[in-house]
Amino acid sequence: MADMQSSTAAPAIIRRCDYSPPDWLVPTIALDFDLDPALTSVRATLSVTRNGDHDQPLRLDGDGLVPLEVKVDGAVLAADDWHLEAGSLIIALTGTAHSIETLVELVPENNSKLMGLYASGGLLCTQCEAEGFRRITFFPDRPDVLSRYSVRLTADKARFPILLANGDPVEQGEGDDGRHWARWNDPFPKPCYLFALVAGDLACNADRFVTMSGGAVQLGIWVREADLPRTAHAMQALKDSMAWDERVYGREYDLDVFNIVAVADFNFGAMENKGLNIFNSRYILADPETATDIDYDGVEGVVAHEYFHNWSGNRVTCRDWFQLSLKEGFTVFRDQNFSADMGSHAVKRIEDVRILRAAQFQEDSGPLAHPIRPESYMEISNFYTATIYNKGAEIIRMMALMLGAERFRAGSDLYFDRHDGQAATCEDFVAAMEEGGGIDLTQFRRWYEQAGTPHVRALLRHDPVTGTVELDLQQSIPPTPGQPDKQPMAIPLRVALFDPATGTHQGDQLLMLTEAQQSFRFEGFTAAPILSINRGFSAPVIVETNRSQDDLAFLSACDDDPFARYEAMQQLMVNVLIGAIAGQPVDDAAVIAAVRNTITDPLLDPAFIAETIRLPSEAYLGDQMAVVDADAIHAAREALQQRIGAELEPLWRDIHSRTKANGFSLSPAAKGARKLRNAALHYLVASGAEDGPAIAFAQFHEADNMTERQAALATLANGTSAERDAAIDIFYNRYGHDALTLDKWFQTQAFALHPDTVDQVEELGRHKAFTLSNPNRVRSLYGAFAGNQWAFHHRSGKGYQLVADCIIALDSRNPQTAARLVPPLGRWKRFDADRAALMRAQLQRILAQPGLSKDVIEQASKSLE
Ligand code: ARG
Ligand code: ZN
Repeated sequence: MADMQSSTAAPAIIRRCDYSPPDWLVPTIALDFDLDPALTSVRATLSVTRNGDHDQPLRLDGDGLVPLEVKVDGAVLAADDWHLEAGSLIIALTGTAHSIETLVELVPENNSKLMGLYASGGLLCTQCEAEGFRRITFFPDRPDVLSRYSVRLTADKARFPILLANGDPVEQGEGDDGRHWARWNDPFPKPCYLFALVAGDLACNADRFVTMSGGAVQLGIWVREADLPRTAHAMQALKDSMAWDERVYGREYDLDVFNIVAVADFNFGAMENKGLNIFNSRYILADPETATDIDYDGVEGVVAHEYFHNWSGNRVTCRDWFQLSLKEGFTVFRDQNFSADMGSHAVKRIEDVRILRAAQFQEDSGPLAHPIRPESYMEISNFYTATIYNKGAEIIRMMALMLGAERFRAGSDLYFDRHDGQAATCEDFVAAMEEGGGIDLTQFRRWYEQAGTPHVRALLRHDPVTGTVELDLQQSIPPTPGQPDKQPMAIPLRVALFDPATGTHQGDQLLMLTEAQQSFRFEGFTAAPILSINRGFSAPVIVETNRSQDDLAFLSACDDDPFARYEAMQQLMVNVLIGAIAGQPVDDAAVIAAVRNTITDPLLDPAFIAETIRLPSEAYLGDQMAVVDADAIHAAREALQQRIGAELEPLWRDIHSRTKANGFSLSPAAKGARKLRNAALHYLVASGAEDGPAIAFAQFHEADNMTERQAALATLANGTSAERDAAIDIFYNRYGHDALTLDKWFQTQAFALHPDTVDQVEELGRHKAFTLSNPNRVRSLYGAFAGNQWAFHHRSGKGYQLVADCIIALDSRNPQTAARLVPPLGRWKRFDADRAALMRAQLQRILAQPGLSKDVIEQASKSLE
């Protein structure tokens, strides 16, 4: 009955302040796997050394493991010389160095959590970050224990002809009964979360990269044979990343081989295991027929991200999981800059800020808000968040901005050199930036400590007599769980003051807002200038200004900072929509004129145009309101969309036909044209033009690429027409056999701004192609739906119930993926009393389930507070 008790008790809270160094170190480990999906044996031999002067026993973490044999220095231990404590193996040791051997057995095909060793589509593979290694063998499963690994894999040769692990292959051979084996050695000491193995029938896209010092690296992307033609983009991205990290950070690859394996069942995007990255196949496979331009960019960005971890994550790793943003924030910053260099800086910045606002600002203003370096957790898997990743990247970006490229590079060089081979902390990174870059970051460190998105209020005052301009800035940071009062942050704001007569400014300035209130004075302005602020989104804050609609319209036409220009247009639209939602008479003329200006400006990049003319999302509009009124938001946004569509209809028709390509290309120009074409189609259909659905259907039918086909499907899915139903059927019949494309079919319907979406999602949950065992499928239906504000917050509460049902059904199978669906229900404070009550009731229903995982307990209980 001990088990029953532990499953109902509140999970333990792990605190950052409780960190202490490991009692025992493990300089080397030899692993011997006898692999089979139905029964795998794992023999581990660890050399352990006492770390410091203490008499603590050796504690090896284990999760669901039964030791079949325990040996110390070659002798089998009697059963009373070791014991299990909450799954961990405890052995009392007398000396300072010993050899420990354990034997366990696993059943990979029953591992539905997809943590540890599991089976996916006939393969065997692993996922160990954060704490999956303890599901494979007994080990101190913490990132500050670094070991040299040597791994031997044995498996049936016919079913598993390819055997991969970290590091370099050293030996292979044939065994008995049709089995074969391979040995891999990884010369770099690493924490166990970076361990990986793969066994399976895989085909390889093989290539080569020569590093800057002349080392040849064998590159391999391993997939099912049939998927080989879809790996070219990932391979190009890998080679581009390797060259970019040499050029921009001076970082070279360090092994003779670099392998990537794509698997169909994966809890997250991908994993940076040393020399053997394992990917969710959606971030490897791409061809024009099945991948959108967004998918292509996702492949490029994630391949780069995982590759960049080889330095920011592997060579320098994290001391403990509270330091997760040390590797994730920095690596996101690196992959964002890489993608910007590969494409358009302006468009990439807009996309990244949109993601930050959609995911991170929401998190930061809700019950799950946490600093980028959290103080405590119950389940670390719940902290792979937009805050750790995306806000973490913004913090690094601010340091890079304050330092400038050269000094930032000096700081990063010092960080990598000083901490190579170590498990480091966020503080180590900041200290290296301070020392290498020559800057005082004392106050800036608050970004690591304080959660919540700062609000900055900016008021510009002009005195025509003296020609003086005063910019009054005020900052405030809302309370977040456990942090009722906040200290002022150091906020770098890029600012320019535009002369309304000429449309120019005297130069961009970086202002440091460090006080709660601060004024900046500028001289020599005979006419009142127009304020452009937080240019390039220099700080992850919410800015409120006293700029008029005319000022915003001016900036949307003239600002030479592309982000600020985009932002001015968005604010112009937000103001009109928020007014309309509040029932004020709507003056949308300025918005329509600004859109007209933008789409007819021959100097603008089509991709930038497409980003800029898009109306703010329903969720973003909700974020601007004290109480989210999902129905009013939807109605106002639809109405403005219809007006923009109808008023500019000839222009949309013209753009739509003008941007039709003949022949697919992935050039930035071709991608930009598709983006703009899809935006034009969207407005054309929104206009209500009678031939709208037919034009969308024609695009759906004729497209030679998924970018245009899916956009046409999505546009049709928002409306009600015979074309809608036909397109949904055709898409299913054409792509039903391909998992990644079928995900799009589910996702497009779950995202649809259609009054019946909630019922359709319910039906899709019963569709024969729906399954809870594939995380991508779950996310494409329920994850997408929970992000569809209007549909999810259907006043009946049925949307909440559907998502809660999914969480409950999924939790016993895959708690990590189940827990990811909880946060949308936790936003109840932002909604009216009826909806809030319905949302809370679902959270309570979830928490009342017996045997709930600590993943879901943590998210649901915090969400109710
Ligand atoms: N380190 C991986 C990446 O961002 C993500 C691993 C997520 N795993 C987890 N259990 N949360 O590249
Ligand atoms: Zn990462």
